[in-house]
Amino acid sequence: MWASDRASAVPGSVFSLMDQAMGRARAAGLPVIDLSIGSSDLHPPAAVLDVLRDATRDPATYRYPMVSDTRPLRMAAADYLHRRFGVQVNADGEVVPLIGAQEGLAHLLLAVTDPGDTLLLPDPCYPPYLGAAAVAGLNVVTLPLHVERGFLPDLDAVPAGVRPRVLLLNYPNNPTSAVADLAFFERAAGWCRARGTLLVHDNPYAELTFGTYRAPSALQAGVDGVVELHSLSKTHHMGGFRVGFAAGDAGALAALARVKGAVDFHPYLGIQRAAALALGLPEDVGREGAATFEARRDALVPALQRLDWDVTLPQASMFVWARVPGLTDSVAFAVQLAAQTGVAVSPGRAFGVQGEGFVRLALVQPPAALERAARALSGAAIPSGSAPLAR
Ligand SMILES: Cc1ncc(COP(=O)(O)O)c(C=O)c1O
Repeated sequence: MWASDRASAVPGSVFSLMDQAMGRARAAGLPVIDLSIGSSDLHPPAAVLDVLRDATRDPATYRYPMVSDTRPLRMAAADYLHRRFGVQVNADGEVVPLIGAQEGLAHLLLAVTDPGDTLLLPDPCYPPYLGAAAVAGLNVVTLPLHVERGFLPDLDAVPAGVRPRVLLLNYPNNPTSAVADLAFFERAAGWCRARGTLLVHDNPYAELTFGTYRAPSALQAGVDGVVELHSLSKTHHMGGFRVGFAAGDAGALAALARVKGAVDFHPYLGIQRAAALALGLPEDVGREGAATFEARRDALVPALQRLDWDVTLPQASMFVWARVPGLTDSVAFAVQLAAQTGVAVSPGRAFGVQGEGFVRLALVQPPAALERAARALSGAAIPSGSAPLAR
């Protein structure tokens, strides 16, 4: 009765179905291996936790943080972008602290668009993008991501008449794990400039990269007309802390700061201090977490390939995106798989129409659990048609 049209337009999530299915597995006495949610199981660096613990004993952190209080975190973010990507941004005006990238994106869309504006969005994509677009009342035009193009969108296929207000990209990508090089971002930034479009790049997996691969920043293609969202959730295993930052175009960020000024008061100062310290840590501290995910990738991918699942070895992120032969109802498959085997994966359809036929497995368990999960998957009949896991 009280739901606004805006609230009603936010799509529901299949993750509650997955949760119920895992509950049924637990009730049946099955050990649950949850690979459905991309929440890091690793711990933040000890020095980060020490800063936060000390901050809780510092009465200066108990009051509302003001904009001036966010300067150390803004400086740390600007330093990080310079050190890591060679990008120059002004900590005063070109960086805004966030309560996570997800919060930042929802408020950024409210800040830079008006209802009815067009948002160009990849399909598949991180599902909250659709919720944020619905809250902002946007007209979503999707860009299909296909394996043949390395899950990169074909911007040339967008009709000349489509003039989106925002193009939203995300590489390393959730859910496909695809990566994009700087040349791709340069092309996307040029395309956006020609159409009067703001390029928004969601970059929470920037440091979760494997081997010698290092992810670029979209800001390397220019700061004007580009906003990039960074998060400490994945790179520093601080998902529960809710902290990140936006950097880039000064006008877009001023609008974001204005909207946020009406809704929140910046992250808790102790969390800001912890995040500032984390951003300044030597690169090899972050590489340890990435190496853990890489070892898990190496445990899981060959096991899936032995099942004839179509999967490429990801170079980054914490996900494996696999096409399951014969799969036409990934939601029914994932729900039944969880209930019958205790192994929870995300159905590809949850990320968009183009995700049908795929599942996403998050590398958030140690290798032994991943191998157990692969064994459970090999015991499950691969569904065809609408009868998933028929035995
Ligand atoms: C692509 C993408 N963006 C944003 C987020 C959320 O980031 P944060 O925890 O900073 O809100 C996630 C989390 O899974 C994600 O995959």
